[in-house]
Amino acid sequence: MDGNGRWAAKRGMPRLIGHKRGANRVKDIVKASPDLGVDTLTLYAFSTENWKRAAHEVEGLMKLFRGYLQNHLLELNEKNVRVRFFGDPTPLAADIRKQMDFLTDLTKDNTLLNLNIAINYGGRDELVRAIRTIARQVSTGETAIQDIGEDTISDALDTRGQCDPDLIIRTAGELRLSNFMTWQSAYSEFAFIKESWPDFTPEVYEATLVNFRSRTRQFGAVVPRAADATE
Ligand code: IPE
Ligand code: MG
Repeated sequence: MDGNGRWAAKRGMPRLIGHKRGANRVKDIVKASPDLGVDTLTLYAFSTENWKRAAHEVEGLMKLFRGYLQNHLLELNEKNVRVRFFGDPTPLAADIRKQMDFLTDLTKDNTLLNLNIAINYGGRDELVRAIRTIARQVSTGETAIQDIGEDTISDALDTRGQCDPDLIIRTAGELRLSNFMTWQSAYSEFAFIKESWPDFTPEVYEATLVNFRSRTRQFGAVVPRAADATE
């Protein structure tokens, strides 16, 4: 969800106003997802690198995150949304972590939409934590070295039990992955959107999905295309 700061700066407003608009946009996009046929939505809200920002911006983002959890907790549950969090929660404030655990538990049986919120998430950090998990399993004899496979790694990541992302959308014109789902993105499709996150309306979202659904994905294999068959 990139471009909140630029969205605000362009309008002569403080960056935090852009983040506030971005948080409002999250609501629309979560709401629109089931109708657009999306069953899993992951929002990259705060990266392991975002702590490098000015203290007041980090505090503002945490405040917004806290507010989002407080205001939407019951609504998300009522709407049958299952919420999970990716990332290392350790450096987050205790009250935020408590809300995260509460929401995860409250919504664990919900089925309409899987909503993952990546906070203090980094693809490399996730791999480091996964390697520690696997190393512990090896040291206790639970896993043998020769049995370590792709599944062992997938099962040790924050995304365990969930599918790899089909489509990764990045807003605000940047052409980078920025430490998002390093392992899981191996065969993801990408959509780079010129609009900033506050301007990523459900209409832009829908157009992005229509484009994605028109693509042929081969995952390294050769799949006969419809056009070839008619020749
Ligand atoms: C939001 O956009 C991303 C978050 C870390 C919440 P940015 O804050 O990166 O906005 P730009 O890139 O400065 O425009
Ligand atoms: Mg940015």
